[in-house]
Amino acid sequence: MRETGRPLELHSIIRGWRLQGERVALVPTMGHLHDGHRALIREARQRADRVVVSIFVNPLQFDRPDDLAAYPRTLDADRGVLVRDGVDLLFTPDADTLYPQGLEQATRVSVPGIGDILEGEYRPGHFTGVATVVCKLFNLVQPDEAVFGEKDYQQLLLVRRMASDLDIPVRIHGVPVVRDEDGLALSSRNSRLDEASRRRAPMLHQCLGKAEELLRQGAAAFDKIERAATDALAKAGFRVEYLVIRRAEDLAPAERGERNLVLLAAAWIGGVRLIDSLPTVLADGS
Ligand code: PAF
Repeated sequence: MRETGRPLELHSIIRGWRLQGERVALVPTMGHLHDGHRALIREARQRADRVVVSIFVNPLQFDRPDDLAAYPRTLDADRGVLVRDGVDLLFTPDADTLYPQGLEQATRVSVPGIGDILEGEYRPGHFTGVATVVCKLFNLVQPDEAVFGEKDYQQLLLVRRMASDLDIPVRIHGVPVVRDEDGLALSSRNSRLDEASRRRAPMLHQCLGKAEELLRQGAAAFDKIERAATDALAKAGFRVEYLVIRRAEDLAPAERGERNLVLLAAAWIGGVRLIDSLPTVLADGS
């Protein structure tokens, strides 16, 4: 596996591949890689001849300095994973390279609408940071394909909108959430859960699952289902920020009769903020 943090070297490696007619896929990450990332890499491998993974803990997308400071950085272990998974190139820029004017003065990309709700509301500035860094990574790597996880469902929609609005010629693929055996969505933040919180954490997925079951039964109004699932989570010790049923296509509030839905939640347990998502297609008549 090749590795560089320098844009000029990145360009020259990728130019070499392109001259041979090879297609390139990008998997952007912030490192501390787990099986969820490995599923993204497998998808990228299916879609292109060459797979580039970026690891950059992007300061511009953190709304809390303590979260940025505590974000796990495990580059040596990550390199081992990437070599084993046959990744062709690891791109590891630093903040001075990506933000040469400093964070305050950096040109930003913001995506109104989808960037302002849910995660955007609870984490001000977060999605501007995400859209900015992903736009820069797309410009640097110029991938044919890019792969993102559906756990960050809103992020996936935001990146699609950003690429489409800015005419960036990349195809974006979403990969279903990868879960631990007990249902907890894999996330780099899970390693910050203490033992008791880790035991309770799968409740997040369980509550979304129960809400989905009620949706399928068509038993109650969406707002009642949301309220029941939020109460169940709160009873289990979570501080719930949101648990909502939305239209999968654009996260607009879902009307009864809508079939293509997604359940989204963000909640705190043991000082760690977890998010999860459950895309759901209802059968006619449910
Ligand atoms: O999902 C992530 O890990 C990050 O938000 C991303 C897409 C790598 C941008 O920093």
